[in-house]
Amino acid sequence: MNQVFNKDILQGKVAFVTGGGTGITGGVARAFAEHGARLAITSRKQENLDAMRSEVESFGGECFTAAADVRDYEAVEAAIAAAVEHYGQIDIVVNGAAGNFLCAADQLSANGFGTVVDIDTKGTFNVCRASFEALKASKGQILNISATLHYLATPMQIHVSAAKAGVDAITRNLSVEWGRHGIRVNGIAPGPIEDTEGMKRLLMPELREKMMRKIPVGRFGRIADIENAALFLASDAAGYINGVTLVVDGGSWLLGTSLM
Ligand code: COA
Repeated sequence: MNQVFNKDILQGKVAFVTGGGTGITGGVARAFAEHGARLAITSRKQENLDAMRSEVESFGGECFTAAADVRDYEAVEAAIAAAVEHYGQIDIVVNGAAGNFLCAADQLSANGFGTVVDIDTKGTFNVCRASFEALKASKGQILNISATLHYLATPMQIHVSAAKAGVDAITRNLSVEWGRHGIRVNGIAPGPIEDTEGMKRLLMPELREKMMRKIPVGRFGRIADIENAALFLASDAAGYINGVTLVVDGGSWLLGTSLM
């Protein structure tokens, strides 16, 4: 259990987390529950949701699950309505559902590009849009999980770079449009996080050392680093932070970690 923050900083809050069954967002969901939040998680695969629910319940937390594909607005709307019905409120929305694979632009199909944009960008909009009334009622907040891929250029990742640039635009726009309703909208841009399935899949072992040398703080990130950033942004300590995408990458993007 993370010991940096008081364990009750999210007491009384309900967090709706997409992609909340696994990976970085699964870590954020679990960390929120460890710090007092009641969870509602969604992802395409019910088995991932069931595993997270068991984990959260094992330490006395509450975890409501609703399988939905964030690309499907009606399914998203139904999942959010079910969570509101279950808990009576939603205070924090985390958009973590994402799609990723490595593919050169000249090999990528239009459908491949569009699929990632649909999951990451349109999915983020869908969830924000469908949770607006609940967040307006709670004066809640949104946390969008982004990336640093699009700050420079990341070969083999044109689809994800475009998708995450769109996510950052959503963060900025909604922070302005919905700030007046008391809703804060921020993002987190993780750098290279080593203990995720995605990184294990994307990072060939022989490239690991080479990449490590390009990380200014001398180590890969861990899911716990993102959990800490998310806990901070979700807490009252960040009450005046709105429209920011917090980079959590050890300074990596400034040097460029692309090895292509
Ligand atoms: N390389 C190139 N194109 C790929 C690809 C790859 N590795 N994976 C998917 N695509 C293309 C498909 O070829 C298809 O395009 P086409 O119809 O022109 O052939 C398009 O993307 C949709 O693929 P499909 O598998 O039908 O989509 P899906 O909705 O079932 O799944 C992903 C899309 C991105 C989620 C899937 O690739 C995936 O499961 N990735 C790994 C899991 C993941 O990304 N987790 C998140 C980590 S951040």
